[in-house]
Amino acid sequence: MNLVPPGLEPTHTQSLTQQLNTLLSGFQVYYQNVRGLHWNIRGRQFFELHLKFEELYTDTQLKIDQIAERILSLGGRPAHTFSAYLEHNTLQIGSDISGAEAAVHLVVDNLKGLIGVERTALEWAVKAGDDGTADLLTQFLGEQEKTLWMFNAWLG
Ligand SMILES: [Fe+2]
Repeated sequence: MNLVPPGLEPTHTQSLTQQLNTLLSGFQVYYQNVRGLHWNIRGRQFFELHLKFEELYTDTQLKIDQIAERILSLGGRPAHTFSAYLEHNTLQIGSDISGAEAAVHLVVDNLKGLIGVERTALEWAVKAGDDGTADLLTQFLGEQEKTLWMFNAWLG
């Protein structure tokens, strides 16, 4: 059964869902990175950052679901295993980070990576005439560019 929404080309949406799976995988890695930062952060800024990281991963969880369900809406299949996420992921993985500066640097680096994948996906969406996906990605881009500015400001 052809599950591609009316007005979209299956060949275009296939390339797009692949790119969205790369984005989904990046978001899953980012989610786990930020969760790790929430757990491992130490020092005088503990309360501020512990809370901020919780805010980030809670928001990320919602975005992950939106991407996966967008892939399904396009007739694709969202990646859902750790092995698939690692295969598609392009983001840096953080491990045992407890210092505030290192933690924020990881967030900044991951946000830049996600924004890059989103821009490529947005190009595919525009090429496919897929306004629904383009809208979702544009919304993510605007939000993450703002978050990136804030964390860069934090770094001084
Ligand atoms: Fe917690």
